[in-house]
Amino acid sequence: MPITHKTITMPAKPNGAEARAHSNIALAKYWGKASVANNIPAVPSISVTLQAMTTTTSVRFDASIERDTLWLNGTLADDRATRRVSGLLDRVRAVSQATSFAFVRSDNDFPTASGLASSASAFAALAMAAVRAAGLPMDHAMISDLARRSSASAARSIFGGFVRLPAGNKDTALLPACQLCGSDHWDLRVVVCVVSDKSKAVASTDGMMHTAQTSPYYGAWLDLCAALSPRIERSILERDLPGLGEAAEQSALAMHACALSSAPGLLYFEPASIGCLHAVRSLRRNGLEAYATMDAGPHVKVLTSASNANEVETQMQQVPGVIRTIVSKIGGDANVEDLP
Ligand code: DP6
Repeated sequence: MPITHKTITMPAKPNGAEARAHSNIALAKYWGKASVANNIPAVPSISVTLQAMTTTTSVRFDASIERDTLWLNGTLADDRATRRVSGLLDRVRAVSQATSFAFVRSDNDFPTASGLASSASAFAALAMAAVRAAGLPMDHAMISDLARRSSASAARSIFGGFVRLPAGNKDTALLPACQLCGSDHWDLRVVVCVVSDKSKAVASTDGMMHTAQTSPYYGAWLDLCAALSPRIERSILERDLPGLGEAAEQSALAMHACALSSAPGLLYFEPASIGCLHAVRSLRRNGLEAYATMDAGPHVKVLTSASNANEVETQMQQVPGVIRTIVSKIGGDANVEDLP
């Protein structure tokens, strides 16, 4: 039987790329959309990029496959996750010469079973890799806008350091995040306290829409965000940790208060979350710099200085229900390289 060799021709330009993006934690929280169809935030948000939590994603357009294929942390992803990835790839295919389906592989360097997996680093890395693999210009504002359409917090993970994503309105067409200052501006630490291995009950997208539709306090939340955002931005520029920490804590607690006041109320706290919040206040009473924030899940992230980080981590590990801690420095920009 004759042996046939398939001729493999090199593409004119690389059709594969691999990107890395860090997760981020919002100090001024995004919770609410001005446009659901275009995924436009109703409030400005400001985040810090987390060096210790990275997603690595490769994208390879391949004319021989018949659908987009996604491998997530070594496992073939379900249809729902693959459809979200295809949504971003479709936007890239619409404006580039990459028309074929793609193989996508995405891995996190942090424990994913713990509910820490964030769409922020995932869609930021996917956007970087897809744009590069499709041969489009590496315009970071455009890539941030592309990532924002899949998950607004992902727009911020394109950049390192401290990052701002403005609010928009229902007519906003283009809305990228922008860097306020780089990772070398301020040597802060974030102590991530993991308190549960269960995945979260209500995803952010659903949670914020439910809040907007049913909370009597949603209007007050929008007003508070407009006031807190410039305060948080100024504290970052002035390296004022108490000013930043107090405002960031207020943003997180107000977001949860608003979510709690929806009908039925959204309860993201576990008992250990409350324990962590009390512990952070007690650390402050004892003279340490420690300020808490939480996203749409039970884990508590503690903002602290480089000099206090070890002590804060040791103390937070003592809180009943804390399963593990991760200490992160401030991370840099997302990056990408061509695959051979
Ligand atoms: C509580 O970016 O996940 O983490 O745009 O609907 O995908 P979608 O929402 P997402 O929401 C993040 C909400 C948050 C606060 C924040 O990161 O600003």
